[in-house]
Amino acid sequence: MDNYWSTLVQGPKTLDYTRELRFNDERRGCFIKALGLQPGMSIVDLGCGPGTLTRKISKWLSHDATLMGIDRDSAFIEYASKEAQKQGINNITYIQGDILKIPLPSDSVDACISHTVIEHVPNREFLLEQQRICKSGGTVSVMSSRPEKSIVSTPISAPDAQMSVREQELWKPIHEIWSKKDSSRGIGSYAIEPSLLPMLFEELGFIHIEVDAITLPVVLDNSSTPIEQKLRMVEMDRQQAIEGLEIGLNQLDEEYEHAGEIRLLIHQRYDKRRDLVIGQKRVWDYQIYMLFVVRGMKP
Ligand SMILES: C[S@@+](CC[C@H](N)C(=O)[O-])C[C@H]1O[C@@H](n2cnc3c(N)ncnc32)[C@H](O)[C@@H]1O
Repeated sequence: MDNYWSTLVQGPKTLDYTRELRFNDERRGCFIKALGLQPGMSIVDLGCGPGTLTRKISKWLSHDATLMGIDRDSAFIEYASKEAQKQGINNITYIQGDILKIPLPSDSVDACISHTVIEHVPNREFLLEQQRICKSGGTVSVMSSRPEKSIVSTPISAPDAQMSVREQELWKPIHEIWSKKDSSRGIGSYAIEPSLLPMLFEELGFIHIEVDAITLPVVLDNSSTPIEQKLRMVEMDRQQAIEGLEIGLNQLDEEYEHAGEIRLLIHQRYDKRRDLVIGQKRVWDYQIYMLFVVRGMKP
């Protein structure tokens, strides 16, 4: 099945939104430096999902680059193409294809990039394919995140805007089915220990290997964020939670007797969170994602 990600993990719209928040324009310099990007380059984003990063990079390089996004999921490719068109960006091509058999000629691009993809595919094959399509002197950069090492605040000032013990209990069977199905589909199965990735780059003959990091804070309560944007964040979080629930419910073998209750609890939680935003009461429920980035050059 070529569109399992968009139907069984996360849909294009909510994935795009979470990435919009993470690939904040203020982080432009960090991305450009860690990925070694420059205007005029040809750049391929492998496993591009809804295309958020390609559109950002296009903007960050003043649209002076040739960009390609490749993903096997047709819903992502369709969404990414439409979004680029809608935003008037015409230097990105999206191609449906397998990143372990990249549909591009050898020695044809200046930079290969990927964000949270290596953990889902055999690492060596993935790097070798990128090495093949890179020109001599071109670079391969891999960005990977460690969810368990993110900083997640645990606000206590507004308990009813946080997940209750009852809701956590009701999520348990859904999380169980997710992790069972995820591992059977290889999702997350290839996550690599951070020291082993640069070693693999070395072993495969890359040169000028660099390890870097990018932190991506997602903080609803920041003073500089306009209230409309805060409300949109709450609504997108709600949509993501409901989407995750429905995806999980569809994978259970039988009907879940608590489906109605869990939906209600999600809505009550986000209604409360929305009311707090409207009442200008800050909770400081935030998350800081950590990316480690490994970059190497093809000799
Ligand atoms: C965690 S998502 C990341 C998407 C995107 N890079 C982002 O950060 O928004 C992983 C992506 O890799 C894609 N993917 C996984 N294995 C693939 C393969 N063999 N060929 C092409 N795409 C693949 C999935 O379809 C999905 O879009």
